[in-house]
Amino acid sequence: MTFFAYRDGVLHAEDVPLPAIAAEVGTPVHVYSAAALRHAAQAFRTALAPVGSKRLAFAVKANPNSAVLRLLADCGYGADIVSGGELRRALDAGMAPADIVFSGVGKTDREMIAALDAGIGQFNLELEEEGRVLAALASDRGLRAPAVLRVNPDVDAGTHAKISTGKRESKFGVAITDAAAMYDRLAGLKGLDLQGVALHIGSQLRDLAPLEEAYRRIGTLVAELRARGHGIGRVDLGGGLGIPYAPDEAMPPLDAYGAMVARVTAGWNVTLTFEPGRVIAGLAGVLLTQVIWVKPGATCPFVIVDAAMNDLARPALYNALHRFAAVAPRGGTMIANIAGPVCETGDLFGLAQSIDRVGRGDLAVFHTTGAYGAAMASSYNCRPISPQVLVDGDRFHIVADRLLPAERAA
Ligand code: LLP
Repeated sequence: MTFFAYRDGVLHAEDVPLPAIAAEVGTPVHVYSAAALRHAAQAFRTALAPVGSKRLAFAVKANPNSAVLRLLADCGYGADIVSGGELRRALDAGMAPADIVFSGVGKTDREMIAALDAGIGQFNLELEEEGRVLAALASDRGLRAPAVLRVNPDVDAGTHAKISTGKRESKFGVAITDAAAMYDRLAGLKGLDLQGVALHIGSQLRDLAPLEEAYRRIGTLVAELRARGHGIGRVDLGGGLGIPYAPDEAMPPLDAYGAMVARVTAGWNVTLTFEPGRVIAGLAGVLLTQVIWVKPGATCPFVIVDAAMNDLARPALYNALHRFAAVAPRGGTMIANIAGPVCETGDLFGLAQSIDRVGRGDLAVFHTTGAYGAAMASSYNCRPISPQVLVDGDRFHIVADRLLPAERAA
């Protein structure tokens, strides 16, 4: 199901023609579809219907826009956060503190205190010392911090190396072989209410097998922890499900994921937490841009657009593909390199690609930019951070302004 479709030869977001947004807001601009977000949020929930007790926490890092978070809060989602900034965004969006999970390998004392003061529902501990510091901070305040221990199950997620987190040598989680003894030590701390375990093995997973293997290893650990006398009430299964970026890319259906989770976790008797990011927001956004030049090149022309790696870092960082399409195709195709204006050879969105024929001034989009698009923007080359627009039916709102980070006068 797509919420970005052509009508009378012009690409629309829901009922809004994209040229109307470009005319009012300018380009480049990130455009989200509220219906697409609601659809994905509901589809994920429906897929997990076979699973018993569960909590859904949107991974804010994928799209921290406040309007997006408010919409997802209305869909019953909490938040998976990794910083004090994301905590603020989630709270401001109206997410209940109890529905907020704090992941992340480097939480500062200040961030832990802010989260304790807010009364969040779960800290995902990344190392033993963090558990001790958190317990002390909580005790000082007469609190017990609800927590789970993030375990590294040593499973290869089979995704891009830069977004794999579940192998032994990565910086995330504690080694599954050390987890039980560490759990024994942490469970006794007065300021900590240790309730279970968490894992997350990577992002953009195209295959359910590594997830299933990781979940099975966690299941074995849960049984071991119970045998050691611990009451385990929670398991956080993380995020990581992939989405198609190319039209023909096959991805595991959500229903198959739900069925796998139900099968593997049957009998665990815990509340499961899920931290989906990409699968909720990815397909709900496009980056709207304008062609500045079509510049002749040695092997094929460069289509130089006004969006760049500072607006969408994924192609430069991970060689990721974001399909390029004209907003009002003139007919015909061309082979071209697609590049941004940033002064880096790597500011490329694709090499020798067959794309809609475009010329100077044409509008175009990069598809599937709703997750890790605007979220990863920078102001490199003193380019402003691009604005964001949320479309809902036949209306649209600017939900983030074009912004150049301010400096102080000397
Ligand atoms: N939970 C934890 C602990 C995570 O580290 C992540 C993502 C998620 C949940 C959400 O994962 P998702 O469902 O979105 O796959 N910038 C990269 C992706 C980095 C993901 C980092 N962690 C990209 O653009 O592909």
